[in-house]
Parts: sequence; structure tokens; C-alpha cells
Amino acid sequence: MAETFYQKTTTAPASSFDVSLRPPAFSEFIGQEKVKERLLLMIEAAKQRGDVLDHVLLSGPPGLGKTTLANLIARAAGSQLHTTSGPQIEKAGDLAGVLTNLQKGDVLFIDEIHRLHPAIEEYLYPAMEDYRLDIIIDSGPSARSIQLNLPKFTLVGATTRSGMLTAPLRSRFGLVNRLDYYSLEDLAKIIERSAGLLDIAIEPAGAREIGSRARGTPRVANALLRWVRDYAQVKGDGVITGPIADAALAMIEIDSDGLDEMDKRILEAMIYKFGGNPVGLNSLAVAVGEDAATLEEVHEPFLIMQGFIQRTPRGRLALPAAYGKIGAPMPPPPARPEDPQGSLF
Ligand SMILES: Nc1ncnc2c1ncn2[C@@H]1O[C@H](COP(=O)(O)OP(=O)(O)OP(=O)(O)O)[C@@H](O)[C@H]1O
Ligand SMILES: [Mg+2]
Repeated sequence: MAETFYQKTTTAPASSFDVSLRPPAFSEFIGQEKVKERLLLMIEAAKQRGDVLDHVLLSGPPGLGKTTLANLIARAAGSQLHTTSGPQIEKAGDLAGVLTNLQKGDVLFIDEIHRLHPAIEEYLYPAMEDYRLDIIIDSGPSARSIQLNLPKFTLVGATTRSGMLTAPLRSRFGLVNRLDYYSLEDLAKIIERSAGLLDIAIEPAGAREIGSRARGTPRVANALLRWVRDYAQVKGDGVITGPIADAALAMIEIDSDGLDEMDKRILEAMIYKFGGNPVGLNSLAVAVGEDAATLEEVHEPFLIMQGFIQRTPRGRLALPAAYGKIGAPMPPPPARPEDPQGSLF
């Protein structure tokens, strides 16, 4: 099999920094309690039965820990992990290559599983259900189907776009987990843990300041920590305090809610360019000069969670908090339809 096949590509390629801070055991994975509990229970049950773990789907915005959890699942189950991603599996033969390389009990991690080609998905169904692969070789009159039996394996799928998964694929997962944005408390713990690993001196107020501006996302929290460390080293005495973190983050224009330049540009476009009317994703993407998928996967869920925008059947709509955030006057309330009885008086 080609070397490139197992190369890792994720929505955000894992940096060495990401990898070094990745929790090596469930006990070090902070937050997402419900997801952790379910996964641990499932692993325990499979172990007790001496059975192979059922297939697991992990969904949620980038940087919340899907890849980390896939690693932890394999480790806790005592299984060998094989990693690939939707876009890397271009042909049925690629999938056959991966599947036939598995041993009993192995974990196959398919990142960005929503990007699997529909034709490839169909090959995956019997593989997931009956550990069987039906492949058609050759084409035209000499085409014939061969059937391969596969060892019992566990598929762990990760996706930032669970809505794009087809119903048949989704229904073949024994457990579907959605990761939520992290609370401030959890983010502060993650930042203190990372600071410990990187030998950075940080006060609790510093960790909270960074956490409150990390968009509920561990990867962002770790990236901000790295910036604030540099700032503390040059402008302070190396210790990250609350005020140092605040000044460092102001310098890169991350505001008190964690909104960055692009988030603010989105809100401004919705209010000024589109006059506060509902706007479609693609028009918005063109207006702010960002790719529509990034808007939908990264910015939109965060702005919705923070109560700045709302999704309506007619498009995305800016909410009062958005007007407050960018200091725009609120639009006049929509004209009320005529009251049919009122006109009699
Ligand atoms: N619960 C957690 N506790 C501590 N650190 C975490 C946690 N979740 C994530 N991280 C940190 O955040 C980084 C990003 O996590 P990860 O790569 O697993 O995200 P992801 O959901 O796979 O993102 P993507 O969708 O972009 O692939 C990890 O390297 C790890 O350092
Ligand atoms: Mg990932």
C-alpha cells in the first residue's frame, strides 16, 4: 500500500504542539464527561464479553478532541490504531487495502468521514455490519464480484459535519457522540495542564483569562497559551497573570468573548452589508472573503452558541447581541401586519 495512504490529514493538521499536549489516557482527558462515561462503559462491556468494540462516531467542531478520543479508545481497548481520512480513500481499492490490513480487534479511525465518496460508503456498509467486503473487479462483461471476509474490527469515525453523513452510514454506528464546546472551568484546567507540560508559570487568573477567550475549544486554548507565554516572557517576568493574559490577547485582537477578526467581520457584514436581513451562507462567505465550509464549521457554531446569530429557514440572522458587539444601532422592529379589527375604529 502506498505510504501516503496513512498520512494524516485532518481539518486542521495536527501540529507537533497538538500532539505533545494530547492527553495520553482517559484520566487526563478533561471535560466531555458524558461522552467519556459512555465510551468507558462500552469498552468495559466489550472487554468483559471478550468481544470487539462496536463502531463509534464522534462529531463536533474542529479542535474539541475527536482525534484525541480516537487514540484513547484504541489505547483503552488495547487495540492497534490505523488512521486514515475520507478524502484519502478515493477508490474502492483504497478501502479494500485498508480493511484487509486490519487484524481482529483493531481500531480503524476514519477522520472527516463525511467526505467519503458515496460509492465508497456503500462498500463500508457490509464491512461494518457483517465484516464482509464485496468488491467488483474489472468492468464490462468480465466484471465479477469477489467477497472477502474481514476480521472483526472497530470503526471510529470523526466528522465536523454530522449533518452531511448519510442516514444509512450513521445508523451503522453503535454509539454516536457529539462533542460540545468546553466550559470555562474545563478550559482553565486544560490550560493549566498544558502549562505544566510546557513548563510555563501561570496563575489561575491567567488560565481563566485565556480560557474565557478560547471559543470553548482546547486547540484554541493551547494556541493562545503559546502566544501569551511569549508575551509574558518579553513584556513581563515570564509569569502569566490575569492582566498579562488580557494585554497579550488584546494585542492580537481577540476580544473578551473570544471573537476574532473574522467573527467580527461576519457580524458587520450581516448588519451593514445585508441590512440585518437573513442572509445565505454562500453570500456571506463571499462578502467576508472566507470559504463557506470554514464559516459553517468554525465560525457559525461558535457565534450561534454565544447568541450572536441564529439560523432561520430564510438564512442566518444577526441577533441583538451582535448589534451590541459591534456597536450598531438596533434595527426598527419589523412592521406589524395590519390588525384587521383595528381599522374599524
Ligand atoms: N479534553 C481535553 N483535555 C485536554 N486537552 C485536549 C482535550 N481535547 C483536546 N485537547 C487538546 O486539543 C488538541 C486538539 O484536539 P484534537 O486534535 O483531538 O481535535 P479534533 O476534534 O480532532 O480536531 P479536528 O476536527 O480539527 O481534527 C489536542 O492536541 C489536545 O492537546
Ligand atoms: Mg482531528
